Amino acid sequence: MTIQWYPGHMAKARREATEKIKLIDVVIELLDARIPLSSRNPVIDEIAGEKPRLIILNKSDLADPAKTDQWISYFENEGHSVVVVDSQKGKGIKSISEKVQLLAKPITDKMIAKGMNPRAIRALILGIPNVGKSTLINRLANKKIAKIGDKPGVTKAQQWIKVGKEMELLDTPGILWPKFEDQAVGYRLALTGAIKEEIFDFQDTTVFLLRYLSKEYPRKLEERYGITHIPEDIVDLFDVIGKKRGCLVSGGHIDYDRVSEIVFRDFRTGKLGTITLETP
Ligand code: G4P
Repeated sequence: MTIQWYPGHMAKARREATEKIKLIDVVIELLDARIPLSSRNPVIDEIAGEKPRLIILNKSDLADPAKTDQWISYFENEGHSVVVVDSQKGKGIKSISEKVQLLAKPITDKMIAKGMNPRAIRALILGIPNVGKSTLINRLANKKIAKIGDKPGVTKAQQWIKVGKEMELLDTPGILWPKFEDQAVGYRLALTGAIKEEIFDFQDTTVFLLRYLSKEYPRKLEERYGITHIPEDIVDLFDVIGKKRGCLVSGGHIDYDRVSEIVFRDFRTGKLGTITLETP
């Protein structure tokens, strides 16, 4: 995945998303359950406007279930409807159509009041790169839809995908750009794969992760690396993990790059367990 979000790209993505919004009844905002705020772009409010919105927390299989519950309350308090899914395995997918129908009820009621036959409700999925838009569309469509690039402007004829009898989904999602003005947001996006980790310093990103895990998930760190006490000092923590994993260079020194690599991959592949990187 390459994303190069130049200001021109962002303007174009925004324009395209705004155009698509005009065609639909309900906006589906797709977020990463591990980083619900960092995977959000505030410009969504401007793009979605007053359209009813369903928030989907995807990749819930990788997120901490207790924190996911906190995030559900958070978004519900904001007045949004929320669904938690695992698009890869198809968990939670069924309730999407139901929730979309509920959100669109005022629109359906209006059609009925005018004596019209209510048509299928039209929805659009919006989200940052790699959050799982294509995977979710394929799940809902029950087939494989060609993936378009993560660059705005890669357009093809738009089609509606039938999801049950009462919902239609635009087959190309709206792409939002990740917002990483804040360094912590950048680290979270790098850790979860929304942006290339190369953009961020690998060791710095792992330092961020280990600091967070020491505070929020000490047991998981202890279990994974077979340590009984987590040192306060971050270098000491690197040393302990490095020794346990045999990450040594000549002279018996610790190879910090290798330790970073191991911890980063362990997080990515879920070997550290279900982890959410931010709390409401
Ligand atoms: P995008 O269209 O928003 O850019 O995202 P896409 O669907 O391509 O998904 C990005 C990656 O996230 C894919 O993995 C996909 O399999 C994975 N993914 C999507 N939804 C879920 C989910 O609910 N749970 C988990 N665990 N993963 C999910 P990839 O690394 O690109 O490919 P692969 O390793 O799966 O082959």
